[in-house]
Amino acid sequence: LSESNLKNKNVVITAGGTREAIDPVRYIGNNSSGKMGYALAQAAAYAGAHVTLISANSHQPKPNGVKLVPVTTAKEMQTAVEAEFAKTDVVIMAAAVADYRPEETFDHKIKKDSAESLEKITLVKNPDILATLGQQKQNQFLVGFAAETTELEAFAQTKLKAKNADMVIANDVSQAGIGFNSDENAVVVISADEAKVVLPKAPKTVLAQKLIELIATRI
Ligand code: C5P
Repeated sequence: LSESNLKNKNVVITAGGTREAIDPVRYIGNNSSGKMGYALAQAAAYAGAHVTLISANSHQPKPNGVKLVPVTTAKEMQTAVEAEFAKTDVVIMAAAVADYRPEETFDHKIKKDSAESLEKITLVKNPDILATLGQQKQNQFLVGFAAETTELEAFAQTKLKAKNADMVIANDVSQAGIGFNSDENAVVVISADEAKVVLPKAPKTVLAQKLIELIATRI
């Protein structure tokens, strides 16, 4: 086996789903389990990379040989990624980042019959972490994920350009048994200069190894 290009490279991987608090007991969240990001972190560590795994609300076991940074919200995730970015060679944004957060977070539990009703919650947009990194990048290789239900490749191409990413890994979340919370996935890998790579349905651990090998050949 030839030595991986990722050996001794600094790799940041985000995983899980951010939670945006409404009050101390309620939040806006999503169904991401963190399985894909954790599998990528393990595969990158096996390839010899120095891996920082920035993890939002995942219950997956910590991969061996990675630095785990737990976060809750999108803003915390952004701060954690930004802290590593200057010394990072590869960023893989596998996390499902909430696009919106409540404008106001109450410091006490809102009672259902109180004047402070939760019938209307005003949402504000979260920062797009990947797009922000795309603006700042020097030599970093930026990888994003695209979870779509229609026109997978077209939307992935648009995302690649809009976020100035180097690679987008697209999966069809409308297909039963793959994607969110599942142990399996099937993806199409899009990049600016290279032909697309189709990776058919397989366990996320197997796909993660293939994706890490592919990234290693492109950096
Ligand atoms: O735009 P969309 O959410 O579909 O893009 C998905 C990609 O962008 C993922 O890699 C995700 O981690 C990243 N993202 C982000 N910040 C957001 C939303 C998505 O970094 N606020």
